[in-house]
Amino acid sequence: MENIRIEKAKVLKAKPSLDGIPFGTYFSDHMFLMDYDEGKGWHDPRIVPYANFELSPAAVVFHYAQEVFEGMKAYRSPVGDVLLFRPTENVKRLNSSAERMCMPQVPEDIFIAGLNALIELDKDWVPNVPDTSLYIRPFIIATSPQLGVHASSSYLFAIITCPVGSYYSEGINPVRIMIENNDVRAVRGGTGHTKCGGNYAASIRAGERAEKKGYSQVLWLDAITRRNIEEVGSMNVMFKIGGKIITPALTGSVLPGITRKSCIELLKSWGYDIEEREISIDELLAAAKDGSLEEAWGTGTAAVISPIGEISFEGENHLIGNNKIGNLTQRLYDTLTGIQWGKTEDTFGWSVKVC
Ligand code: COI
Repeated sequence: MENIRIEKAKVLKAKPSLDGIPFGTYFSDHMFLMDYDEGKGWHDPRIVPYANFELSPAAVVFHYAQEVFEGMKAYRSPVGDVLLFRPTENVKRLNSSAERMCMPQVPEDIFIAGLNALIELDKDWVPNVPDTSLYIRPFIIATSPQLGVHASSSYLFAIITCPVGSYYSEGINPVRIMIENNDVRAVRGGTGHTKCGGNYAASIRAGERAEKKGYSQVLWLDAITRRNIEEVGSMNVMFKIGGKIITPALTGSVLPGITRKSCIELLKSWGYDIEEREISIDELLAAAKDGSLEEAWGTGTAAVISPIGEISFEGENHLIGNNKIGNLTQRLYDTLTGIQWGKTEDTFGWSVKVC
């Protein structure tokens, strides 16, 4: 592996207050970059001061959205260590997204070495206020200047970081979710199982409509039957119905969330049976009406564990658990965040110390 070149910023930025700061708007002093060229592979891994990119206006990413990304966090433990959560899972998912988008894989050792070196250099940016962390955004963009619809022959891999508080302004309080019955997010055979920018671009219109009506996000239905629940876009969803835990199966149009996977592993270790299967809107609404829908929550890196207190479908609203965080949701939140922030014993070996 080529050595990582480090160019330090001459002037360091002031750290922002995280009180009420919008998610992902204030970036740390440095970023990791690495180039790819056909015939040469990945080369010139480097950490440089955070700055704008210079790219050709004809770069493939601007026209055909050949781009993939990841979301991770670095956490400050009570003794001041900086911890990552299951980082190799993010490398695997980035590479699986890259494969779908015809992009080159990033070797795991370079990704992890670049990430660790960046975090170590910017470790003062990992906040130590409760419920805050340093959000990490690795991404690959297609940089060849060409307007023919073909895979790019050059790419840029970058990692940027930003200190964050809660993703939703509600914090750990329940969010209101609108079930979308017009737009669709993804279809099997498409790119729904990947983290590519296009999935998120296509979700913005419904998200804006929902926000105008006072909802935090939309819950997507499958694109074919328009009856089966998929995910929220910024998080996967889980329901507790009549004592059972149900989450939509990974059918190809749902993101394989790392927080989702961790919750399933935690719940199994607590003796719960998890049903990963199709769950229709009819089953969910029937459970909401007869009172068997006990809890609902979202899972995601940015969203962590986010209780869902209300769902709305075709103008009808249903409260879940009296719009209060449920016991199981709270237990998942406490255990997962306890492991992530190094406050709870990590019997799974998920937490990785960087420095
Ligand atoms: C994450 O949870 O890290 C995500 O990537 C979701 C999002 C903010 C787009």
